[in-house]
This record gives sequence, structure tokens and C-alpha cells, in this order.
Amino acid sequence: MKEEEKQTLLKVIRQLLGLTTILLFGGIALALILIFGLPDLSVDKDKTTKNTAVEKVEVEIVDTVKYWQAPNENSLANNSKKDLILYGKDIIANTANYFGPAGKVSKNKINGMNCQNCHLDAGTKVFGNNYSAVASTYPKYRARSGATEDIYKRINDCFERSLNGKALAVESKEMQAIAAYINWLGKDVRKGKKPAGSGFKEMAFLDRAADPSNGNLVYNQKCVSCHKANGEGQWNETKTAFIYPPLWGDNSYNNGAGLYRLSNFAKYVKYNMPNPTYHNNPQLSDEEAWDLAAFVNTQVRPKKDISKDWPKIEEKPFDHPYGPYADGFNEAEHKFGPFKPIKSKLDLMKKEQDKNKKTS
Ligand code: HEC
Ligand code: HEC
Repeated sequence: MKEEEKQTLLKVIRQLLGLTTILLFGGIALALILIFGLPDLSVDKDKTTKNTAVEKVEVEIVDTVKYWQAPNENSLANNSKKDLILYGKDIIANTANYFGPAGKVSKNKINGMNCQNCHLDAGTKVFGNNYSAVASTYPKYRARSGATEDIYKRINDCFERSLNGKALAVESKEMQAIAAYINWLGKDVRKGKKPAGSGFKEMAFLDRAADPSNGNLVYNQKCVSCHKANGEGQWNETKTAFIYPPLWGDNSYNNGAGLYRLSNFAKYVKYNMPNPTYHNNPQLSDEEAWDLAAFVNTQVRPKKDISKDWPKIEEKPFDHPYGPYADGFNEAEHKFGPFKPIKSKLDLMKKEQDKNKKTS
């Protein structure tokens, strides 16, 4: 072989070696990306402004998950349907103006709170107990009543429990308006589905029972400025509606309400309070949220006769604080936890029951 040919051959070999190295490293890098995913370069662009209860807050949620968004009101054609939907929205945002102490439709039908106090931004906020999954999942069987409930029954549940008030007549214009608004919000959700961001964000259990005395300490640091020393909240000047809604006492939700269950309270508060808080930037630890739930829900509040709730006792949730129970745990354990063992027991019972159903 001539010297010249040798050189060319060596060059080709070197180039081939180089190429192999590049391919090798490229391959390893690709494999790593496939296994561990791309590094997270996204920035949390949550823009929040300091606010009082009445100010509207601008927020832009940038997240990897595509959360549900309410339909745009501008897409509504100008007709009586639109008027009804917007009337429903206003009742949800300003319920006290219609049914509170100086209610336009009916006085003192409710405790003075608004649906929006718990269904934030008129039931549109991501993980703010929004209404996105109502149209798609009702009518449905609910274990609390042991019956199939339609949307009217579910709305009246909140009137009678969360607002500690009286049910609306189904045919009333107000009930029809609330239902029209909630159905419109969920109109693009497929039947039977719950979109990402609906209801509450899930949260881990503690390994211990929730501790009301620690909750009291957290309350005094992080909640008392708005919800006040006796949990009474703050009325507006004319005492016709709340600027800051009450957390306990005569004007609060009663012991049959959803928030009276520790898990609902903890999830609501962790991802929404102090107001305003967004689920991707919580201000409370899990322990603080559970302990706050235990503290607030051991204070005095209105009572409802709920002896007919959860007619099938094996369907009572782990945090329903009134016996009798089918799972062998007592009322104190169901009220404060630790909830993990109760939940596991209930899951096991459910599994066995399903198995028996299949074999019989
Ligand atoms: C004190 C807080 C509070 C207030 C005020 C309140 N709700 Fe609720 N509401 C809840 C909670 C908590 C739940 C979820 C309960 C559960 O899943 O156990 C809920 C659930 C609902 C649901 C079912 C949601 C779903 O996805 O299944 C509807 C509908 C509803 N509320 C309507 C209303 C309306 C209308 C009003 C006003 C008339 C109202 N609520 C006022 C706390 C409240
Ligand atoms: C800056 C004032 C502020 C602070 C601080 C604050 N909240 Fe709230 N909270 C509000 C407002 C305002 C609402 C009603 C939101 C709405 O209507 O849009 C609310 C609603 C609630 C509700 C649902 C309605 C009700 O009254 O039952 C609960 C529960 C709650 N807050 C608990 C807490 C807890 C617990 C803390 C402490 C971690 C806290 N909040 C801190 C202003 C505040």
C-alpha cells in the first residue's frame, strides 16, 4: 500500500471512529431523556396581586397539565338563555343579595354567605371546588343520601347545609338560573368525565391524628386577620353580606355540610387559603391544613338533623364523624384520624363486597 493510500485510509478510520463516538453519546443521552424525561425548564408564572375580598385577582396559570377552563361568556348568543345563565352566575357570586338578611328574592333564607365563598370565582377556579364536573356526572348515586340525585337536589343540599338555609323550589326562576349556569359551565365536558382541576386537589394523609390545638396556633397566625378571633368573619357596613365569611358560629355552615368533613376542609384550605392562593403555590403545609380543619370543625356551629345521612353505614366515608360504623373504628378516630388505617379497612371491605357480588 502506498503511503498516500495509507494516510487516506487512516483518515477514513478516524472519521468513522468520531462518528461512532457521537452516535454512542447521542444514544446514551436519548436513552436518559426517555427514562428520566426532559429537565423541567418551565417557570411558575403565577401572577397574583394582594387583594381584599372584593378585588378581582388576575392569575395566569402556566402548568404542564391542561386544566379545565370555563367557557367564554362572550360566546353566548344574546337571548333569554344567556340572561338566565348570567342571572345564575350572579346568584352564585352574590347569594346574600338574593337570600341573605336583606335578600331581594327572600329574606333570611340562608346564613348570609355566598356560594362563591366555597366555589371560588363563581365556581370556575381550578381546584377551587369548581363546577366543571357537575353537568357531566349528575344525576348520580350519592352515598350520603343513598339515592340518585339530580342537579337540583345537589344544589339544595348546599342551600340546606353549607348555607344552613332552606331549599329552593325546583321550578323557581332562581333555581333554574343556578342550574342553567352550572350546566353551561360543564357543557364541553364529556358525560361521565371529570376534567383535570375539578373539585379539590388530592392531598396526603398524616401519620397521626389531626391536632386541633396546633390548628388553633396556625389559625391565630394565618387566618385570624380576615376570619376574626371568634371565626365570625366580617359583615359589610350594612350587615347585608360578608366581606370575610364566617368559619364557625351562627352564620357558618352546619354539621351536615361538605366542609365539616376534615378531608374536604383540609383540601379546600391548603390549595385556596389564605385568600387568594393557587393550587400550584400553596401557603400551608399538609400538617397545618389538617390541623386547621380539626380546629375549625371542633368549634360551635349550627346543627342539622343528619340521622338519615349515609343510610348504608358501610358507605360512610373515613372522615364522617358520626357513628354507627361498619369498619370497627370509633367516632373520635373518624373525626381526627389517623385516617390511613380507616381508609385501608374501608377499601378492603369494598373489595370483598365487590367480589361477593360477582360470585353470587
Ligand atoms: C361553606 C362552603 C360551601 C358553600 C357556601 C356552598 N357549597 Fe356547594 N359544596 C361545598 C363542598 C365542600 C362541596 C363538595 C362536597 C363533597 O364532595 O362532599 C360542594 C358541592 C357542591 C356541588 C356538587 C359539585 C360536584 O362536583 O359534585 C354543587 C352543585 C354545589 N356544591 C352547589 C352549591 C351552590 C349552588 C351553592 C350556593 C347556593 C353552594 N354550593 C354553596 C361547599 C359549599
Ligand atoms: C386575606 C384574608 C383571608 C385570610 C388571611 C384567610 N381567608 Fe379564608 N377566606 C377569605 C375570603 C375573602 C373568602 C371567600 C372567598 C370568596 O368569596 O371569593 C374565604 C373563604 C374561606 C373558607 C370558605 C368559606 C367559609 O367561610 O366557610 C374557608 C373554610 C376559609 N376561608 C378558611 C381559611 C383559613 C383556615 C385560613 C387560614 C389559613 C384563611 N381562610 C385565611 C379571606 C381570607
